[in-house]
Amino acid sequence: MTSLALPNAAPDVARITVILGTGGTIAGTAASAQDSVGYRAAQLGVAALVAAVPALQGLALEAEQVAQIDSKDMSAAVWQALARRAAAHLARPEVGGVVVTHGTDTLEETAYFLHRVLAPTKPLVLTAAMRPATALLADGPQNLFDAVMLARQRDACGVMAVLAGEVFAATALRKCHTFRLDAFEAGDAGLLAAVENGVLRRFREAPAAVALGLQTIAAAPDAWPRVEIVLNHAGADGRLVDALVAQGLQGLVLAGTGNGSLSASLEAAALRAQAAGVRVLRASRCAHGALLGDGSPLPGAGALSAVQARIELLLQGLLARPG
Ligand code: SIN
Repeated sequence: MTSLALPNAAPDVARITVILGTGGTIAGTAASAQDSVGYRAAQLGVAALVAAVPALQGLALEAEQVAQIDSKDMSAAVWQALARRAAAHLARPEVGGVVVTHGTDTLEETAYFLHRVLAPTKPLVLTAAMRPATALLADGPQNLFDAVMLARQRDACGVMAVLAGEVFAATALRKCHTFRLDAFEAGDAGLLAAVENGVLRRFREAPAAVALGLQTIAAAPDAWPRVEIVLNHAGADGRLVDALVAQGLQGLVLAGTGNGSLSASLEAAALRAQAAGVRVLRASRCAHGALLGDGSPLPGAGALSAVQARIELLLQGLLARPG
């Protein structure tokens, strides 16, 4: 499966683009236009975000509010609802693509989750903003416009994100800055494309993907497995892992140092957890690179970030459920 159209492929003017709102800074407001930090996320509805972009008027758009949250509070319930609504719209023959407005803080997790569950054959484009809608120079309207332009590409497919004119595969998206407008990067994988003045300029294809399907995430959200991330650091102590296992932990991601290395204490506790039936994956706390085989008895997560590895364990846990 390729994920992007040919460079400058024609937009699909005949079909509808559905915009699903979930909140975030893109829907945030501040008391003062100079304030890009002291704002409240998730204040404006998705219809208001669309109405604020004159260039979108007259296009075949539908808007639907799926959630209204600060994405730091993203939950299994919202993920489940979002995946279901996105899948329902993507299945409509008259819909060409779906856009999701979201917060930046967990954007990479939602993108990866939707990629693994849906791997759609039409474009599913996430976007967000670093500044609230009330800012002097808000980035949300341009990002939303670019996302709609990408979702209207006739031959595009797969889960992507667009921010600051840059198009990311769901697998490569990483938030890397606390404040800058171009707060995301794609690491070694590189960008998929750029959106320049509403036109797509393609750089590479996204990796092929197979959807796990909505049935994988059908369990009630409070029955989803508990999967935690524990970071290795100077003096990291395995008693934290022992305490989590005693609480019924089902999955453990270790954000190791460098090539996924762990302190002796943390490694011993992770091995105890694994022996007790907890699914364990080692990732790296480094921003870039993949884990290389080092003979560890604790499986490595390859090029997945720690938060992506957590989603893998969540999905593995759900897939392993009886019935
Ligand atoms: C959020 O993630 O919902 C708030 C922060 C942001 O969107 O930049």
